[in-house]
Amino acid sequence: MAPSNRIEGHPVSPQPQKPAVLFVCLGNICRSPLAEAAFRVEAARLGLDVEIDSAGTGSWHVGEPPDRRAQAVARRYGVDIGRCRARQVTREDFSRFTHVVALDESVLVTLRRLRPRDAAAEVALLLDYVDGRAGESVADPYYGGDDGFETTWADVTSGAAALARRIVGG
Ligand code: 4NP
Repeated sequence: MAPSNRIEGHPVSPQPQKPAVLFVCLGNICRSPLAEAAFRVEAARLGLDVEIDSAGTGSWHVGEPPDRRAQAVARRYGVDIGRCRARQVTREDFSRFTHVVALDESVLVTLRRLRPRDAAAEVALLLDYVDGRAGESVADPYYGGDDGFETTWADVTSGAAALARRIVGG
């Protein structure tokens, strides 16, 4: 896949760093724990050696487990996310992780503000990695019904597969 011109960062670092991916949404209780889960499944399938985590830009839910509707949709697809606990993204995350992946445009704006100038991490929207969906946000399901979480799972699954392919491709 041709890299989107929206993807920022410096993929060439002096010392090759093991891939490490951080998914970021607002609360870290709905979309990013699901993206983390979908990416864990994909990485395991491909035998990728990669560190994986998720965080939120906001602090409202720090320390809490994922929303019960997010836990339910993950369970329907065979993944237990009940042990995740929400945390807030930090400036250090931009050097710890090679990829800092925003679930929506507002999160991307916050990440660009937070990112230290010299940080090497690639910062992008999750759907930037999906052919034909660059620039799209994963909709926030928090205030909607259970259907929204099925859409979230479908979106994060597409994004996770495309991102894993990009990492495998180098
Ligand atoms: P998330 O969903 O960003 O996908 O975890 C949200 C969860 C909580 C809030 C907003 C979005 N909130 O405003 O509390």
